[in-house]
Amino acid sequence: MSILLSPEHLNELATAFGSPLYVYNADQITEQYKRLTTAFAQTDTRFFYACKALTNIHVLRHINSIGCNIDCSSINEVKLALFAGCTPNNVLYTSNGIHFSEIEEAKDLGVHINIDSLSNLEKFGQKFGPHYPVGIRLRPNIMAGGNMKISTGHDKSKFGIPVEQLDEILTLVEKYQLNIQNLHIHTGSDIKDVEVFVKGIEVLFDIIPHFKNLKSVDLGGGFKVPYQKGDGETDIDLLATKVKEAFDNHPNPNGQPLQVWFEPGKFLVSAAGYLITEVNVMKKSGDTVFAGINSGFNHLIRPMFYDAYHRIENISNKNGKEANYTVVGNICETDTFATDRSIQEIREGDRLVFYNAGAYGFEMSSNFNSRFKPAEVLVTNGNAQLIRKRDVLEDLIKNQQIN
Ligand code: LLP
Repeated sequence: MSILLSPEHLNELATAFGSPLYVYNADQITEQYKRLTTAFAQTDTRFFYACKALTNIHVLRHINSIGCNIDCSSINEVKLALFAGCTPNNVLYTSNGIHFSEIEEAKDLGVHINIDSLSNLEKFGQKFGPHYPVGIRLRPNIMAGGNMKISTGHDKSKFGIPVEQLDEILTLVEKYQLNIQNLHIHTGSDIKDVEVFVKGIEVLFDIIPHFKNLKSVDLGGGFKVPYQKGDGETDIDLLATKVKEAFDNHPNPNGQPLQVWFEPGKFLVSAAGYLITEVNVMKKSGDTVFAGINSGFNHLIRPMFYDAYHRIENISNKNGKEANYTVVGNICETDTFATDRSIQEIREGDRLVFYNAGAYGFEMSSNFNSRFKPAEVLVTNGNAQLIRKRDVLEDLIKNQQIN
């Protein structure tokens, strides 16, 4: 039996909670996590959910409850993960371009830390020397990922310490007797090709021998998920086989076996999320038929920001005859979700659902045009729970200094 939420179920939820509405299915998240742990059963692996994809506390709690760790990209995400009940040992903070004070805070909170600049590594050495284990984020100079905005490992990228600066890293390690336990790379998002990860591992094999205390290597996230019918995804089983092969063929020259870490975001929560909207107005213009919905790029920015494709279905007219529609939002600038897309006949009042809305959906939403952010609902074993209320006017005003 499919664990996906059916159009009927989504319709019921929109009737109960209103729209626009983000719905997440905890069972799909669990299923994806199991796919990973099953595929990598032969390798000592640890998965950290890249929570920048979706940080609702209830989602973090669910992730924690299924035994998955959490990767954070800001000190606030670290605090949310701890607030959700994770133990510090299960939380990783992969920093980028941050003030050193955040690293100090992360150290005080007792979480794992990856440092991504020589400058912060030096400050860390001066302050803590060998007394707190730390990881290094490297830039492997590998081009990967679905588009330039989400490519992070190439040789013009701001992320990580360029691998060609290894000597400078080693000088700092020596000078401050740093206890380097993890080496990290992350090359981008939407990476379908397993060979990209293999290339990353090969870069690391030249570097690993220099770090005597190493316990793990962190290959980041970026597994591609299918957004449209016929879209490919990262072959997780093949990846697991390749990773095992690579590490079997390159035992750590320093003796201790290395644990392999991953930081999947989209893979865990993308397909588990649904954005339900309603059609406000239908408008004809020449050959174009616009369906104007009660949402916009303020709720789901991926189509406008990355030209990302999200599958759209008319759940009010599942068996309707398909025709071409341009689905647009209500934001006061160009705000297009889909152009001339074949969708079941759309009428005013119909509900349109956007699939794959779990990752970087609500999380990248805003109050642009002073519109409210949607409510969020989590479905666990078929039971729906409101996990965030829809904004009200007070939310738009509460931090402003009103005299
Ligand atoms: N680890 C690090 C250090 C990252 O920077 C990211 C994502 C991940 C893991 C997780 O990547 P994922 O498995 O989700 O692909 N907003 C964009 C994606 C940006 C990803 C940023 N970093 C989108 O909606 O396509």
